[in-house]
Amino acid sequence: MTLLRNSLKEIPSADIRRFQKKIFSFYTKNKRDLPWRKTTDPYKILLSELMLQQTQVNRVKHYYERWIEKWPTIETFASASLPEVLQMWMGLGYNTRAVNLHKTAQVIVSEFKGDVLAAIKHYKQLPGIGKYTSQAVQIFSTNADLVTVDTNIRRILISEFHLPTTISDVELWSLAETCLPQGLSRDWHNALMDYGALHLTAQKTGIKPKTQQSRFEGSDRQIRAQILRGLLQKPQTFSELEKLVHIDRERLKPILEKMIKEHIIIQQGTIFQLHQ
Ligand code: ADE
Repeated sequence: MTLLRNSLKEIPSADIRRFQKKIFSFYTKNKRDLPWRKTTDPYKILLSELMLQQTQVNRVKHYYERWIEKWPTIETFASASLPEVLQMWMGLGYNTRAVNLHKTAQVIVSEFKGDVLAAIKHYKQLPGIGKYTSQAVQIFSTNADLVTVDTNIRRILISEFHLPTTISDVELWSLAETCLPQGLSRDWHNALMDYGALHLTAQKTGIKPKTQQSRFEGSDRQIRAQILRGLLQKPQTFSELEKLVHIDRERLKPILEKMIKEHIIIQQGTIFQLHQ
């Protein structure tokens, strides 16, 4: 029997076993053939997890395969230049993910001798990597008895066990641990992801993600993407950038300052260009 503290719920172990059977039975019939499921290389799994954050599986597949061909190891990727990395990422959206992934790869190579698995356990030292990604990389590369809870898995647990959507992360992660079939973590998480993506969708359940993607149109994120695209073509002056993004200079200035601070771009005199 599993007790959930605040939601005052008891979950009988027979319910947990029934849930496991249902998920695995779905997986046997509906397993998706995805390129990152053919590897246990933690670098490739880390890459896939970051690409899959906020981007659809079908869009990611092609980008993932091109990337692996160009940079087959963490070392080759870490020594690439930032403009090359942004060029390869262009179109996936949320370019900050690419900048963070590049910085993370450089920390892994310089501080952890290129050992992704060792480094990922110290995810707080890695920009843009959170607990979800750290656990996912360990699960998919080593099949360790660990759990991870993303938006899909959260939705499945809430729906299956009729939990309030206000349930805390601590409780959800603890329930996820109770549900984990020992020794089968890799298959279990793949199965949950397929069940959430193909069957128990957000539309079907009406359970919304905790954080909604903000509007892209007119956002700073869109301005940043336009700036990056412009600078990938050639260095630009402030006035040229102003024309490119069609916003007034008072709004453009702090956006550029932030990008300089994040080491994405540099300013030399009147010229802005991408950080190498
Ligand atoms: N979303 C996040 N990680 C995923 C994975 N490994 N497979 C499918 N969808 C995912």
